[in-house]
This record gives sequence, structure tokens and C-alpha cells, in this order.
Amino acid sequence: MNKRISILLILLTSVAIIGIVISQVYWIKNAFELKKDHFHKQVHMGLKAVSNNLFEMQNSHQNCRIFLVQDSLYTDKTAFENLNYSLIDSLIVLELIGTHLPNDYEFGVYHNGSSQLLGGKFNQFEQQIIETDYRVSLGCLRSGSPYYLAIYFPNLDQVVLKNMAGGFSLSALFVLIIGFSFVYTVIVTYRQKKINLMKNDFVNNMTHEFKTPIATVSLASEMLLRPEVQSNIDRTKKYAQIIYDENVRLRNQVEQVLQLAVLDKGLFKIRKKEMDVHKMLDDIIHNSEIFIHNRNGSITKIFSAARSKIRADKMHFTNIIHNLIDNANKYSPNPPEITIRTKNAKKGILISVEDKGIGIKPQDQEYIFKQFHRVHTGNIHDVKGFGLGLFYAEKMVKEHGGYIRLNSTFGIGSTFEIYLPFNELRNI
Ligand SMILES: Nc1ncnc2c1ncn2[C@@H]1O[C@H](COP(=O)(O)OP(=O)(O)OP(=O)(O)O)[C@@H](O)[C@H]1O
Ligand SMILES: [Mg+2]
Repeated sequence: MNKRISILLILLTSVAIIGIVISQVYWIKNAFELKKDHFHKQVHMGLKAVSNNLFEMQNSHQNCRIFLVQDSLYTDKTAFENLNYSLIDSLIVLELIGTHLPNDYEFGVYHNGSSQLLGGKFNQFEQQIIETDYRVSLGCLRSGSPYYLAIYFPNLDQVVLKNMAGGFSLSALFVLIIGFSFVYTVIVTYRQKKINLMKNDFVNNMTHEFKTPIATVSLASEMLLRPEVQSNIDRTKKYAQIIYDENVRLRNQVEQVLQLAVLDKGLFKIRKKEMDVHKMLDDIIHNSEIFIHNRNGSITKIFSAARSKIRADKMHFTNIIHNLIDNANKYSPNPPEITIRTKNAKKGILISVEDKGIGIKPQDQEYIFKQFHRVHTGNIHDVKGFGLGLFYAEKMVKEHGGYIRLNSTFGIGSTFEIYLPFNELRNI
């Protein structure tokens, strides 16, 4: 997709998601206010009912004066101070049952304009009780008296929110899912794009790599067809050898590309057999020594592992070590100095391949195990490769239950360390 269109789409989707979040917040706020309003009405109705009940009770219990002392000797104030507050409390509880109102509340009776409560059930919210809107006049008990019964809910907001929690968390969850899927899609698309670019590089690289041996083979066979060459056995042998070598190179390259497809689809097979790591390393080193010595380099072994038998796939093990030695050689501009060490670690063996080559910068180290990834070497373009060796090595080591680690200093050298578990030798 066109870069501009994808940026536009990302922007539009981000704006849409932000819009959804804002409208959700707006609706939640509205719903919160509505709920509070509903509570508000319920409280007022409840208080009205309490005052009506008080009035009815006063009229029907005049003689026993159970809650209001109506003696004419009492002033208004003393009368309200002597109200039966636990009875009022029970009436409030009765009104609250069946509503969604919070059941932790405080209430009191006060004279309008006074800053003190005459009585009630309260601890610390005296001021809030006096200031709250939830009040009802007690004029019905002593006509004309400016006394009020007020109720205060300290946790009203929390209770309203708790009541809305179900709907609120559901919409938050959906918004989160949309946001997460969007971010994930963008990341995956970006990664895919990067891999596509690297794949293109790989194809270009590979075509170039194939062209060289093909050209050499055609030149050598052309020479072989010449009568003067055919009459000279040494020259014939030389050109036949070139064709043979180039053919081997081509075969290896084709093999590498085929391996990639197998690796990608996870179709590779691991056939673990008992093997001696030291013996295998000896063979691999022996085969590599020719090209290392050709460059006046050296390859040193320091085998310290007391236990060197493990269960592993011999072919993959050889390829892994070969890739590491190949890299140590390729990325050493001077005659390569390679050291191969072994030592035992917990339930397994550690094998390290050390070189004194160009090293790898810290910012490149986390990427080099990724498919097709090659570090940009500036002007040095003569180092060939597909960026597959370490990807393959890491995948195979993991398949064996081990790991691969890198320790490198740019300009000084690199050490790749592999851990392979013994893999239960006794089960062979
Ligand atoms: N020993 C090393 N010293 C310095 N850089 C290294 C070393 N080994 C690997 N690298 C860096 O890591 C990159 C990835 O290595 P990898 O072996 O996966 O690919 P490659 O060598 O480029 O190609 P090939 O597929 O042929 O192995 C290399 O291109 C190189 O930049
Ligand atoms: Mg390599």
C-alpha cells in the first residue's frame, strides 16, 4: 500500500479511536449525573416519607409521647433536642430498604441558620449534614418551626460509580480491545514491510551470488571445448576442477535457499543421537583449517569440558558450528585468530567461538539473529552472505533446548557462546 495512504489510514483510525474514547467518557459522565439525579429524587422522597411518618406517629401516639415531647414548658429547641432519634433512624432505614441508596449515612436535626446539630446520628460530618440539599422541614411536628431533618451520604459518589461499574468496565474493555488490535495491526504491518524489504535484498543478493559461479562455469566449459586445451591434460584438469568447485558452491547456495523454506515452514527434522562434542568439533575444525590457513590465520582449541557426550542432531550441530566459524573468518579483515572453547555448565555443555574480527556494535547485537539481517559494514562490501546463518543457528540451538549468546566489542572481536543440554543420555 502507498505510504501516504497507510499514514492517512493510521491517522484517521487514531482520530476515530480517540473520538470513541471521548464520546464514551461523555456518555459515562452523563449517565453518572443521571444516576445521581435519580438518587437525589429517591432521597428526597425518602425524607418526605420519614417526615410524614413522624407526623402520623405524633398524632397517633400523643399520649405516650414516644418521640416528641410536646410539653408547653419546652421551647422549640428542647423539644427537637429530645426527639427520639433512634426511632427516626429506624424510619430512615425502612425507607432506604429496596432503594439503591448507600446504607452508610449520617443524619441530624438543626435549626435553619444555625451551625450546630440538635441531635441525630453523626460522627464527623456535622457541617456536611447542615449544608446538604437532602433535608426536609420538620414544620409538620411543630407548625412554623424552622427545623430541618437532613441526611448525608459520605460515599455517595463511590456508590453511584460502583452501581455503574459493570457498564463502565465493559465499554472500557471494548475500547481497549479496539486500541490494542489497532496498535498490534500497525506493528505487524510495519514488521512485515521490513521483512519484505529484507527479502528483496536477499533475492537481489542471491541472484548476484548465482551469477558469479554460472559465469565462471560457462567460461571454463568454453575453454574446455578448445582443441588446444583438450590436448593439454593439465589445463583440462584445471578447468574441470573449476567447474566442479563452482558447481559445489552453487549446490551449497541452492541448499541454503531450500533450507530457508524448510525453516520458515518448520518442516525440518531433528534426529538426536548420542555424539561426542569434542570429536565433532575436531572434525569441523579439521575441515575449516584449510581456508583459515589460506588466509594465514589460526584456529585454536581449548577443550575443558569433562563431560562432552550429548544427544543432538549431528548434521545441524555441524552446520551451527560451521556457520559460527565461517562468520569468525568472514568478519575478520586481518588473518583470522579463532579460538574454540568448551566447558561444562549445569546439565549441559558450553561451546564458544571467539574471533578478533570487526566486532558488532551494541545497537546491532539484538538484530543479528533475525532472518536476512546483516550489519551495514560501510564501504566493506566484499563480505558476502544472506543473513541466514545466525538465524538458523539460533533456531536449531533452541530446538535442542539450548541457547546462543553473544559477547562482542566493536573493533575488538566477538564471542558466540552456545549452550546445549546433555538431553538425558540414558534414554537413548
Ligand atoms: N563473528 C562476527 N563478527 C562480526 N559480525 C558478525 C559476526 N557474525 C555475524 N556478524 C554479523 O551478523 C550478521 C548476520 O550473520 P549471519 O551469519 O546470520 O549472516 P551472514 O554471515 O551475513 O550470511 P550467511 O547467511 O551466509 O551466514 C552478519 O551479516 C554480520 O554483520
Ligand atoms: Mg554467516
